[in-house]
Amino acid sequence: MYTSTKHARSALPRTKVTVPGLHSMKSEGDKIVMLTAYDAGFAAQCEAAGVDVVLVGDSLGMVVQGRSSTLPVTLDQMVYHSAAVARGVDTALLVADLPFMTFSDVDTALRSSARLLAEGGAAMVKLEGADYVLDVIHALNAHQVPVCAHLGLTPQSVHKLGGYRVQGKSKSDAEQLIADAKAVQDAGAALLVLECVPAGLAQRITQELHIPTIGIGAGVDCDGQVLVIYDMLGITPGKRPRFSKDFLVGRGSVVEAIRAYAKAVRRSEFPGPEHAF
Ligand code: KIV
Repeated sequence: MYTSTKHARSALPRTKVTVPGLHSMKSEGDKIVMLTAYDAGFAAQCEAAGVDVVLVGDSLGMVVQGRSSTLPVTLDQMVYHSAAVARGVDTALLVADLPFMTFSDVDTALRSSARLLAEGGAAMVKLEGADYVLDVIHALNAHQVPVCAHLGLTPQSVHKLGGYRVQGKSKSDAEQLIADAKAVQDAGAALLVLECVPAGLAQRITQELHIPTIGIGAGVDCDGQVLVIYDMLGITPGKRPRFSKDFLVGRGSVVEAIRAYAKAVRRSEFPGPEHAF
């Protein structure tokens, strides 16, 4: 987070991005720029481009390991990649995903999170879902571990969801998503990722919560945006997801592409309606 006013930020040195700082950004209407990274090199590019939050996502199972889902990613792998990313960031807040089944009960979640913070250098953990996860969020919060919740399309539930599909389209699903969003906030989550939900629903959730929302395929009205770095650099093989954009097109370097993404997010120019549902 920069200490200056909107859009003039990149000219000034920046202070460390903190969890309270992200909350101030929401109240001041400053968009939060989040991007994934999986190693020190790309993390350093994110840092140089002024990204606020670097996420070591379990998407690394798909984009780095070439698997068809995030389910095989292990805690050891997350700790390894998180520690590598930690060596590349300086001021950005580092968030690391709790992979599949590493937060299945409170005790397991506390032990897994301790590794991500102590060995992986993360400042916050991200975990998917609500329901039983609410107790986990509450316990992590009580043990001083900042939590980013993740609702909507939760890739670790791909088999239950029946595929990677937009969530919250029916009235009842939308109401459930709003209730879940309030519940994760009440349980103590400090940040909420909303993945692949209709833009209007994400806007409503963003207005009703006091914690910041970060959208991916959730429209421009979230408090911030996140993308998988391989998608926004056009590296991911096959069809790019509708919600993403290749920012390397027409730019000469990775850092310029990330700067363009950060600028577009801060000016609410990305995502456009063509990237939303
Ligand atoms: O794993 C990941 O990269 C994520 C983002 C897509 C939000 O969860």
